Parts: sequence; C-alpha cells; structure tokens
Amino acid sequence: MKYFIVTYGCQMNVHESEKIAGILENMGYTLAEKREEADIIFFNTCAIREGAEDRVFGNVGNLKKLKKKNKNLIIAVCGCMTQKSQTAQKLLNTFPFVDIVIGTFNLSRFSYYIEAVKKGRQMEIFDEGDIDETLPYKRTSGDNAWVNIMQGCNNFCTYCIVPYVRGREKSRKHENILKEVEDIVREGKYKKITLLGQNVNSYGKDNENEISFSQLLREICKIEGDFKVSFMTSHPKDLTDDVIDAIAEEDKIEKYIHLPAQSGNNRILKLMNRSYTREKYLDIIKKIREKIPSCRITSDFIVGFPTETEEEFNDTVSLVKEVRYDSIFAFMYSPREGTVASKMEGQIDEDTKRLRVNKLLKVEKGIQKEDKNDN
Ligand code: SAH
Ligand code: SF4
Ligand code: F3S
Repeated sequence: MKYFIVTYGCQMNVHESEKIAGILENMGYTLAEKREEADIIFFNTCAIREGAEDRVFGNVGNLKKLKKKNKNLIIAVCGCMTQKSQTAQKLLNTFPFVDIVIGTFNLSRFSYYIEAVKKGRQMEIFDEGDIDETLPYKRTSGDNAWVNIMQGCNNFCTYCIVPYVRGREKSRKHENILKEVEDIVREGKYKKITLLGQNVNSYGKDNENEISFSQLLREICKIEGDFKVSFMTSHPKDLTDDVIDAIAEEDKIEKYIHLPAQSGNNRILKLMNRSYTREKYLDIIKKIREKIPSCRITSDFIVGFPTETEEEFNDTVSLVKEVRYDSIFAFMYSPREGTVASKMEGQIDEDTKRLRVNKLLKVEKGIQKEDKNDN
C-alpha cells in the first residue's frame, strides 16, 4: 500500500506532513513516487490567503479522475482549511469523493478512521485537543530537522486566520523539546535544527512554570554535537533583549532572524493590531545590528490592508529602504472570513494591491542588487 502527501502553507505544515508520513509508515504504507500510484492521498492544507484555498479546491477537484480509475483510493484532507467547519463542510459537499476531512488535532486516531472509511463511510472529524507527543515523524527535509516548540497563536492580528484555525498558544514542555533535539543530534544525520512556532518569542508564557524562549535556546546550545539551531517566526513585540543576547553569544545559534514588520505605517500597524510602532520596530533592528553585526534579517509585508493610502504604503517602501533586508516576502492583503479586517470598510481593489506589491518587490530587488555589487 502506498501514500502520497501534498503540502501547502508554512513550515509547521511541512513538519506536520512529516508526522502524517510517520503515522502512515507505521501502518505499513510506503511513499509513492507520484499520486497516480497511491492508495491514499493526503492534502495538508493552508488557509492563510484566498489563493491558497483556491489551489486546494482546484487540486482536490482534479482527483476525481483518479478516484474513478481506482475505487479503493482514499482521499483525505487535513490542515488549517479543515479547521474551519464551514470550509470543511464545503469540501465535503463539493467533492463527494473525498473520504476524510480531518482536523489538526486528530491525527493520532487516523488508523481507526481509515478502517471506518474502508467500510464505506465519509468522515468529517475535528475537535479541539492536544498534539500527541508520541507520534513518530518521518523527517523529509534533508539535513534540517524541524522541531515544533509550540502551537497556536494569541495575537489576533486583525487580518489573520491562524488564531482561529490553530487555537491558543500552547508550549510544549521544554524537557520534551530537549529530548527531541538530543535524539536528533544523536542520529547524526542533521546539521540544522529549526524550532517552529507562530510566535516563538512567547514560548513558555502560557505556563508560569515553563522556562523562557531565550533559556530554551541556551539549553539547546548546551547539547553536545555539531549542529546549528535557528527558529521562526519572531513577533517584534516579543523579541526581547535576552533573545538577541543569546543569538549574539551562542555559537550554535544561526545569525538569522525573520522579523515580519507587515507595514511601515503606524496607523496601519495599529489597525492590524501588531502592538508595535515603526519606531519600536526600527529600534529592535538597530539593537540586532549593534549586537550581531553579521545577522541576516528578513521580513513579511502585507500591502493593500483596508484603508491603506498611497502615502501609507510609501511608508512601507521607506521602511524596506531603511532596513535593507536580506530578503522579504510581500503579500497582497486577502480578506479572511471571520477576521476583524475582513469586515472593515475601505477594502482596497485588487489592481491597486497588485501595483503596490510589484512596487515593493521591485524596490527590494534593487536593494539586493546594490548589496551584491558592494560585496
Ligand atoms: N506568525 C507569523 C506569520 C504567519 S503567516 C507572524 O506573525 O509573523 C505568514 C505571513 O502571511 C504573515 O507574516 C503575513 O505577512 C501573511 N499573511 C497573514 N494573513 C494574511 C492575509 N490575510 N492576507 C495576506 N497576507 C497575510
Ligand atoms: Fe497571524 Fe499575527 Fe498570529 Fe502571526 S502573530 S500567526 S500574523 S495572528
Ligand atoms: Fe497556512 Fe495554517 Fe501555516 S493557515 S500559513 S498552514 S498555520
């Protein structure tokens, strides 16, 4: 029996697909080279922007032909899209040939669901719960090993669907994280360890007995072995001096910070509920550059947030020029149902968003070209 997994979205999803692969291999499945050869196809979905959801609908739709050829093929959809009950329902209604729609927290019981599906039931399963720590991973990212340190997000940036689909912040116990890192290092196959969380800087804050993120980093660096550790993503409001100091002082920590700014304009930052100003953000950048001169810094930006004027967008352009990032991601704002920003008046038209995203990326390209010529 063979499996095939299609993954959308962020690194946390990539890592979750490694867990799905681990579960399936435990059940005796092996990896298929292409989806046509699979007995089970898994879609691990993302809901961050409308485009991500559209791609899933398109690609799941395309499986109808395969299902016609192979009646026993099992099609499962999981991930952030399925955490929204309306979308889960829409998937099942649009595609009656989908067998299982399953939430992020229910993977541990997956073998049971497969048996039920084989008996002819279409299933929709999702409820809240804890991530099962005992599930095996099949690591698939070469010499990089992902390690989840927390799940969920408490920040409720007004544009963002993640807190709704991933629930509240919950940190893993540091003992379990350290044990996982020790095991990875002992295996000897991995040179890089990347800690994952939507907001790693708030690690431990949900449990008063837990250590802080900088302490976790220091503990990981005490593990003997030849490896580098990095992490993502950092929220500027929680990036404290002790974390910057740890990066500066510990040889094992990669000199790299992904520090999404989202906008360079204070009114928009406030509407986004980001809890920092342009000035505070620039202060953090200054501190990083002083303490870690070799540090690579990257960022995410959203253009065309509701009511953003041309002038306010130009503040984002000027921030990018001022910081001179090593690279950036720029996204056109995509309204997500249920979020505060999706209900705001003054939504910006797609053409304007496209012009702004292209302008921002052009500015960034110019900076990178200049920096290359300098070196
Ligand atoms: N937790 C991370 C971001 C996770 S989502 C953080 O806070 O930095 C990755 C990126 O997707 C975000 O940084 C943001 O730039 C973008 N994004 C999130 N919601 C979006 C939306 N509704 N429209 C467009 N881009 C969005
Ligand atoms: Fe979304 Fe904001 Fe949480 Fe990041 S910090 S996942 S952008 S709500
Ligand atoms: Fe997408 Fe979910 Fe990640 S919405 S970006 S896969 S947390």
